[in-house]
Amino acid sequence: MPTTQHIPVVIIGAGPAGLLLGQLLYKAGIDNIILEQRSPDYVLSRIRAGVLEQVSMDLLRQAGAAKNMDAHGLHHHGIELLFGGQRHRIDLHGLTGGKYVMVYGQTEVTRDLMEVRAAEGLTTVYEALHVQPRDYDSGHPRVRYEKDGELHEIHCDFIAGCDGFHGASRASIAPERIRHFEKVYPFGWLGLMSDTPPVSEELIYANSERGFALCSQRSLTRSRYYLQVPLTDKVENWTDEAFWDELKRRLDPEARERLMTGPSIEKSIAPLRSYVAEPMRFGRMFLAGDAAHIVPPTGAKGLNLAASDVGYLARAFVDYYQNKSTHGIDQYSEQCLRRVWKAERFSWWMTTLMHSFPEEGAFHTKVQEAELDYVVNSRAASTSLAENYVGLPMR
Ligand code: APR
Ligand code: PHB
Repeated sequence: MPTTQHIPVVIIGAGPAGLLLGQLLYKAGIDNIILEQRSPDYVLSRIRAGVLEQVSMDLLRQAGAAKNMDAHGLHHHGIELLFGGQRHRIDLHGLTGGKYVMVYGQTEVTRDLMEVRAAEGLTTVYEALHVQPRDYDSGHPRVRYEKDGELHEIHCDFIAGCDGFHGASRASIAPERIRHFEKVYPFGWLGLMSDTPPVSEELIYANSERGFALCSQRSLTRSRYYLQVPLTDKVENWTDEAFWDELKRRLDPEARERLMTGPSIEKSIAPLRSYVAEPMRFGRMFLAGDAAHIVPPTGAKGLNLAASDVGYLARAFVDYYQNKSTHGIDQYSEQCLRRVWKAERFSWWMTTLMHSFPEEGAFHTKVQEAELDYVVNSRAASTSLAENYVGLPMR
């Protein structure tokens, strides 16, 4: 017989979505437990995004996990688009009435959330195996898992599936209840992290004949760079030297000159995908973050969408426990999906605008050149890019 207990909300997954939700609920007096299949070190070893929108910053502050972000995050008021060998600045701040983004790594966000959770004495079960959400269509959902060879069962009011793209929550749903929308791109991103100062103060998104490149950063002494590569490339065949050489070829002469190279501290290849699962609610189970949708990283939206999903979900649970209203819960899926699809559109658009698609032919390349020219020379078009990049408001 498994050991049993009752906890109002069981959160599956201790990535940024699960941890942020746990903290928002705790702040509102709603008890919760997080079940995570990996170890804390493993969770922190994953290197991912690095740009936070206003909505995400605000939620981290509300969660009481923003001290380090506010002390060390970098305020960015613009980005640069490089094409035809020239850089063009998009004035995010000026075009959006004073908004900006915060450059602060997802690894750091995750660590900060883990630390505040531990400091409050809240439970996260790491290395929880065979996590199974059950009976979420009834009024009595349960989650089973194994830890150190023992079977456990938690009875709860709600299950939050924050377990990423390969998680158990979405996998537990009967196929006829869920629709999948997917687009796979014919290339991946090779990322390299190095303890070298960033090549430029602001992020550079480069469209070159040799493919896309991105110059990003984590701090004034740590840089993150990416190259568009064929899906068949293997990371072990990319030496640091080959990476730096290729990056230089995709930059403008000034950036090429300024680029400081050094040994990589991490290097990996990630495929690019757009994906949405509909709906995001199944009875008393709710999907949030990468469990429900994936965006290609070009628009820097993945982490931010995970944050806004759990922002809506926390609000819905508060409405339920404090006001005895199911309105928020009933609206959750629709409300999230409206925002999700706008971010999907923007991420797909930025990806299409900035990458090379040789298989699409010369007409595509010409239209892309015209669109880039339009984006940087029309105030309307740059404003549209800017307002999406800094993030649409959460209703
Ligand atoms: N049981 C328990 N935990 C699981 C299971 C499972 N069966 N499957 C996955 N997990 C855990 C993973 O180990 C991971 O720690 O769920 C967590 C999901 O975290 P993320 O993949 O980081 O997803 P999310 O929290 O939604 O954050 C989205 O991550 O991939 C980036 O670009 C994306 O920045 C975005 C962010
Ligand atoms: C990153 O720093 O990892 C990063 C920044 C911007 C993006 C994607 C990734 O659009």
